[in-house]
Amino acid sequence: MSDTARVLPEGSAVTVCEVGPRDGFQNEKTFIPTRRKIEIVNAMFAAGLRHIQVTSFVSPRAVPQLADAAEVIAGIARPDDATVSALIPNLRGAERAAEAEVDAVHTVVSASETHNRKNVNRSIAQSLTDFEAVADLMHRKGITVEGGMATAFGCPFEGIVPPEQVGRIARRYRELGAKRVSLGDTTGMATPATVKAAVQAIRADAPEVEICLHFHNTRGVGLACVMTGLAEGVSYFDASVGGLGGCPFAAGATGNICTEDLAYLLEESGYRTGLDLGALIEVARMTQDTVGRDLPGQVLKAGPRLRRFDPELTATAAG
Ligand code: COA
Ligand code: ZN
Repeated sequence: MSDTARVLPEGSAVTVCEVGPRDGFQNEKTFIPTRRKIEIVNAMFAAGLRHIQVTSFVSPRAVPQLADAAEVIAGIARPDDATVSALIPNLRGAERAAEAEVDAVHTVVSASETHNRKNVNRSIAQSLTDFEAVADLMHRKGITVEGGMATAFGCPFEGIVPPEQVGRIARRYRELGAKRVSLGDTTGMATPATVKAAVQAIRADAPEVEICLHFHNTRGVGLACVMTGLAEGVSYFDASVGGLGGCPFAAGATGNICTEDLAYLLEESGYRTGLDLGALIEVARMTQDTVGRDLPGQVLKAGPRLRRFDPELTATAAG
């Protein structure tokens, strides 16, 4: 297939999966009251988001902020067409997620050994073996499995992650029956060239698996990487409201690409997201108030492109 034939055509639907309540909140030191988390997720649904990673079922000692995972899921008003997902590191997490009646679980393994040890205290091989029982349970419960892969574009401890490694893990996920494989750019090391190489490795090794791209904007090229993803035919991207986010177990991790900025880019490029930009900006403001500091999102600060300003309120240069 030629490069141009692979490009996602203008007018196509693109799914934006909101990960702020998981990837964003996990990094917040001060506990966000459960009621507030629920309000924010409900506001995300109201802004048109239908795929939300609401929380994670990990050890509450590892991530105390998300110890209320089950209460949050029980408290949100889930639209019929929504996919509520949660990150899980092991079978215990899968059991808790199933009990909470999630629609999907996002398993997590890193593409680099050192980060996998830091993040889940075991080897990559051990994580993948553990996921056999997870996949089995999820299959019996009718819960979708999304295979998450952290440090897919580089590791803060080991450096380069070869695309062949990404392809190998994707193939293993496909064997486990994962619907989608999500390539996580944990510390913002992805570049357009590495995105192209990783996506092509998966297309070669596990062609029928759907791809999700999960970028962090740590080095300012997150949305450029999205453009590369679109050029490679990818139509599913993670993002976080206001650009909140980061992994507590990866040196130098900062926020995800921002949901409003991504929605703005996609809509202005002729893709259909089903998102209401104004309502997303409101959710970002709500989240900003909750965490008590300015978030990096740019559309949050500038507003939509056709926002009009009152000339009477702007100084006129003279002399
Ligand atoms: N949910 C809740 N508790 C869990 C759990 C889960 N999914 N998995 C393990 N635990 C509990 C165990 O019951 C045990 O509790 P106890 O000491 O009270 O008996 C304790 O955690 C240790 O269990 P163990 O299996 O030995 O885990 P570990 O100490 O090797 O840690 C993980 C492994 C995966 C549980 C932990 O590293 C973790 O939760 N990591 C997630 C990190 C994360 O969220 N990163 C950001 C997202 S990428
Ligand atoms: Zn992330």
